[in-house]
Parts: sequence; structure tokens; C-alpha cells
Amino acid sequence: MPGRQLLMTFPVTATSHLLAAYRERGGYETLRRVLTTMKPEQVTKEVAASGILGHGGAAFPAGRKWQVIHLDDGQPHYLCANADEGEPGTFKDRWILENAPHRLVESMVIAGYALQVHNAFVYIRGEFDLPCRRLQAAIDEAYDAGLLGERIMGSEYSMDLVAHRGAGSYVCGEASGLLTSIEGRKGYPRNRPPRLTVRGLFQRPTVVNNVETLSNLSVILAMGGEEFRKIGAPKSPGTQLVSISGHVAKPGVYELEFGYPVKKFIFEDCGGVLGGRGLKCIVPGGISTKVLTGAEIENVTYDHASFAKAGSGLGSGGMIVIAEGTCMVRLLQVMVRFYHHESCGQCTPCRDGMGWMHKLIDGIVEGRGRREDLARMEAIALANDGTTICGMGDACGYAVTGILAKYRDEFEYWIANGRSKFDGRLEVAEAELAHA
Ligand SMILES: Cc1cc2nc3c(=O)[nH]c(=O)nc-3n(C[C@H](O)[C@H](O)[C@H](O)COP(=O)(O)O)c2cc1C
Ligand code: SF4
Repeated sequence: MPGRQLLMTFPVTATSHLLAAYRERGGYETLRRVLTTMKPEQVTKEVAASGILGHGGAAFPAGRKWQVIHLDDGQPHYLCANADEGEPGTFKDRWILENAPHRLVESMVIAGYALQVHNAFVYIRGEFDLPCRRLQAAIDEAYDAGLLGERIMGSEYSMDLVAHRGAGSYVCGEASGLLTSIEGRKGYPRNRPPRLTVRGLFQRPTVVNNVETLSNLSVILAMGGEEFRKIGAPKSPGTQLVSISGHVAKPGVYELEFGYPVKKFIFEDCGGVLGGRGLKCIVPGGISTKVLTGAEIENVTYDHASFAKAGSGLGSGGMIVIAEGTCMVRLLQVMVRFYHHESCGQCTPCRDGMGWMHKLIDGIVEGRGRREDLARMEAIALANDGTTICGMGDACGYAVTGILAKYRDEFEYWIANGRSKFDGRLEVAEAELAHA
């Protein structure tokens, strides 16, 4: 296995997601210790000391986010786990929800206690059938066992937890869109400031964290923040659940200790590229991160600093492997189609820009492309950068500029010859992107 395991520490069986199995593995003992021996502020201190970065895409330090919440402000506070997991190529939170839902529930009670939250939510992707059922069953089991609700484990602390099922919109994974959706309105992202930790759900201080970020809390509190910080890479403590798909021999979810060599991961742990083909590039962390060629990942290790140095990011941990011979024009077309479809339409550069981008790339694929279309696409991407309410405008721009910078010749070839250099071949990649 690629390095130390913190979340995937047990064999998955037909019953390993149940409360009894979780308790056999010491489950809820950390919560008991937290509730009986620690003050809420101490819990936040441990999270800050651990240095854990958010696993939802932006890699923001969880401790810093939590420290904005003032426990004595006289207001209700809310906590939301982001289980929307809409980023194409990403399916790692799904592993937690299906196989270790009690780790999330225990961790959320610990987080709720630290932030003095009495109403918490898991915003879960509507299409997730088994994860929804397993999460709800875990919540029900926890209520029955006195691990949720009034006076948890006989303490003074009470917290309710609701699983709120989304309806399949990508922007509802964006933290403010998610809160608007829980409020019962259209899931439009909101302008910031004010930050959500100041004015979030129902205009009250709210912490939104990714499922994996939160699930690490029971681990951090069990071993202590300082010990957790020693695992992984210096600026990326801990591990990452990586979902790997595309043209790879052994797709799936793997837990990687930060700092692990990326090529070793792809070629040894995941069996290399499908059919023994060469590696063309990877989409490192969901389609909102810039592609890296096989040569560019030669000495890259799986951590934020190493990926930033290579010119990309870890995003949401959803790696897509692209084999030699894949058509990057068609790949970008699939990506742009997705963004255009998912734009919520509030911001002109995103709503219209994605539409224009979609038309331009469709035109190229249909043989109507012109050389100046590429410069137009880059100009649209630039116009989106930093000018929209949420990060989706930027994300589409990264996908476009990232692919055009490295595979421009493929676009020029299609424009000049009216056909793909690679027969428009996408194979697995298209199926993966369409499903995500
Ligand atoms: C368009 C868009 C979609 C997003 N989708 C998700 C998602 O599905 N899951 C997630 O955890 N974060 C998603 N994010 C990031 C969230 O806004 C937020 O940064 C994250 O949930 C915070 O948790 P973390 O700090 O633990 O990473 C998305 C962001 C954008 C702009
Ligand atoms: S950037 Fe796009 S998805 Fe985000 S709020 Fe604006 S229009 Fe909606």
C-alpha cells in the first residue's frame, strides 16, 4: 500500500460500515474522551496543530477556518459536511460514505462540539444511492445508541445531524451554493465577503468542510495534532484518498501518504496505463486542475508543493490517466460541455463565456474551426479569471488554457485538416467524464 493508512485501515466486508464493526475498531472512544476531558477550544487547537488542509479542492487549512468562529458570540453556529462530490473524476468521499460512515458521524460530533454547533448537516449528492442509504442508516444507528441527539454519551452536549440530499447540480458543491440549497432555495453561489464563517447558513456563522477533511478529525484527536503533522509531507500533513480512473489498469480509491512518488503510484500500485500504452498526461485532481504531461510528473510527489511547482494542483484528489493516442480536442470538448451545462448563469463571463467556448470547440470538431478560434478561447478563459462569483468560471479557464498550452498542435491539426490527429479517440476517458 502507498504509505501510511489513516482512513482505509480495515478490510471492507458486508458489515464493516455498521456501528458494531466500527465500535470493534475502537469507534466513538475518541469522541467519549473529547466530550469528557477536553474543552471545545482545545479541540480546535489540536486541529490547527495538525495542519490539516481541506480535501475539497481549495486546500484551505481547517484550523484557520474554525478559528474564525467565536464561541461566545451568542449566535447559533452550523456545521455542514460537503458530500456533493460533483467534480468529474472524483469519487473518494463516496468510499467513506459507503464503507466508513460512522467515521464521518463521530468526526462531525467532535467538530460540532469544538464549534458549539447543535444542528449539523451532510449535504449529499442526490445520485449517490448506496452512500445515501448507508449514511442515513449510520445516523439512525447513532441516534439509537445515544451518539447523536440530546446529551450525547451522557454529556452536556447535544447535536442533531441531518442528511440533506441534493438534486445533482455541480454548483451545489460550492460551499455557498450548498448552503443556499439547504435553505430551500435555488443553489446559487453567493458573493464573498462576508465569509461563510461570519454569515453562512441562515445568515449565521457556518463551517463547511469536505467529507474527507472532517473524517480525519477522529484520527487527529486520537493521536494528537502534533503527531498527525509528522505524517505526510512537510506542508501537506496526513494522507489523501485518491480516486484514479481513465486509462489505468487498476482504477479505484487508494489512500496515499502525502509525499508519495506519483509515477510509482500510477505504474506500480495502479498497474500502469491500460493496454500497456504510453502515458500522455494526467488530469491530477478533477477536471478543474491543469493537465500534466507524463514528462512533467517524472519527479513529482503527491503533495501540494510538488504539484504547484509542476504547474497544477491536487484539487479534489480525482486523478484521470490519459493514454498516448487520446485526442485532447475531444477531451476538452467533453470538459467544456460539462462546464457549460453546469453554469448556474448568475455571472455573465461564466454563463456566456462557457456558451461561446462550447460553440467554438463544437465548431472545430464539426470542421468549421478557424485558426483565430484558439486565441478567442484563451481570451474568454482570461476574462473569466477572478471575475465570477464562484470558482467555476476560473476552473473552466484552467482546463482550456492548460490543454491549449500543451496540445495546441492537435487543435491546429483539426482546424487545418477537418479531422482529429487521433481519430477523435477518447475511449475510457469519455465514459469516466460522462459518469462523474
Ligand atoms: C463549482 C464548485 C464545486 C465544488 N464542489 C465541491 C464538492 O463537490 N465537494 C467539496 O468538498 N468541495 C467542493 N467545492 C469546494 C467547496 O466550495 C469548499 O471549498 C469545500 O467544501 C471546503 O471544504 P474543505 O476546506 O474541507 O476542502 C466546490 C467548489 C466549486 C467552485
Ligand atoms: S461562476 Fe458560473 S457557476 Fe459560479 S456563480 Fe457564476 S455563473 Fe454560477
